[in-house]
Order: sequence, then C-alpha cells, then structure tokens
Amino acid sequence: MLRLGVNIDHVATIRNARGTAWPDPLRAAKLAEDAGAQGITAHLREDRRHISDRDIDALMAGLRLPLNLEMAATAEMQEIALRHRPHAVCLVPERREERTTEGGLNVAGDEAALAAFIAPLRDAGCRVSLFISHDPRQIEAASRVGAAVVELHTGAYADFHAAREVDACEAELAGLRKGASYAHALGLEVHAGHGLTFENVARVAAIPELAELNIGHFLIAESVFIGLGPAIAEMRRLMDEARR
Ligand code: PXP
Repeated sequence: MLRLGVNIDHVATIRNARGTAWPDPLRAAKLAEDAGAQGITAHLREDRRHISDRDIDALMAGLRLPLNLEMAATAEMQEIALRHRPHAVCLVPERREERTTEGGLNVAGDEAALAAFIAPLRDAGCRVSLFISHDPRQIEAASRVGAAVVELHTGAYADFHAAREVDACEAELAGLRKGASYAHALGLEVHAGHGLTFENVARVAAIPELAELNIGHFLIAESVFIGLGPAIAEMRRLMDEARR
C-alpha cells in the first residue's frame, strides 16, 4: 500500500497567525489517523515559523502514528532529533527567505558532511530520508551517505501541471518515474511530495516504486471548505484508485 503522510505544518501556521492555542496540530494529527493517514510529517524550521518545539514534544508524546521530523542538517536540529528519536528524519535544504522548501538537497555536493550528520541519527534508530530532485547524481550520492529513504521533490511537476505546460509536466513525470526506479534499484525506499493536490496526485501515486507520499498545504487548504477528515479521506481514495 502507498502510505499517506500528512504534513501538519500549516495547522500551526494558522494557529500562529493569532498566537492562540488553536487549531492544535496534535488534534489535526489524530484526526488524520482516523481519516486514513499512515504517518505525520512536521517541519521544525530554524525560525519556528509554524511548528514549535512544544509541538514536537506534544506529537512525540501523544501520537500513535509514526512521526517524520523534517529539518535542516544543522547541529541544533540534530540535537533535537537525537533527544526525541522520531521514527523518521527527513533532511531538507532550508533558506529563511523562502516560503516553502524550494529545491532538493545537494547531496552530491556535500557527501562527507551529510554522511557524518546521518550516522548518529541512524545509530539512534531513525530512518533518515533525504529530500532530493530526481537527478541520478543526487540519488547515487544519497545511497552512498547512508540514507534509508529518498523523497523525490514533486514541486516542479506540480507547478507545470497547474500552469498546463503539458510537455514540461510530462518530462518531469518521466524524470520522477526514472528516479524512483533507479533509487529503488539501489536499495533505497522511495517517497515523493510537494505541491500534490486532488488534481495532480494520481500520476505520481501510480509510480510503482513509491512507498509514501507526503502532502500538506493542499489538504489544510481544502479542509477550510470540506473539513480535514474528508480532505484526507478523498486523497487516500485517489491514491488507492491510482494504484489499482
Ligand atoms: N515533503 C517535503 C520534504 C516538504 O518539505 C514538504 C513541504 O513542507 C512536503 C513534502 C509537503 O508539501 P506540500 O505542503 O506542498 O504538500
């Protein structure tokens, strides 16, 4: 089964807009489980613009689903991950001025440092995932530095899909298919995510080597209109349909 990881960052974004205690990310995470999600993702950013340290404490204490802690490869974040030992740690590039994670990690350009960063996390029992583009050089580097998982960045595919740029969209999809197949052949578990919606999820979900999709912003946006549970249930249905 293709797992659905629900990213709850933007529940915290809404809460932080007013500095209140609601909506509560842990409540959203529990509701996601009831609606058919298999995992929860939360990105603890350096600037704490959405998820806070207290959210991570609460998720680790109150969540039944596995937590995928998304973070930059910094000493501060490594210390936090080693303290909590979440099920998975997904390393992402992070720039303060970006609105969202714009590109993949440059694993090929930073192999020695990443290998040293990953080793203690792996020893602590965390499945380490690297958020990368489908470039074969990045996939090969990911397999060398000790990652268990790669998450392929679907943001460009989603942007081309939304802009109705058919050729570019097909080319991105072909790259994602090839990348998934190559990473799988190298023994990596393959995930994908970023920018996925009801409209564009099916063709990504149909890639047979993928084990998990991580989806956030669209689900939280759609929950304004139809509720979080129904939005997640519909995404789950579309993913299952694409696999049939
Ligand atoms: N995967 C990773 C590694 C991400 O950084 C994000 C965005 O935080 C997502 C998946 C989810 O992307 P979106 O919020 O666009 O669904």
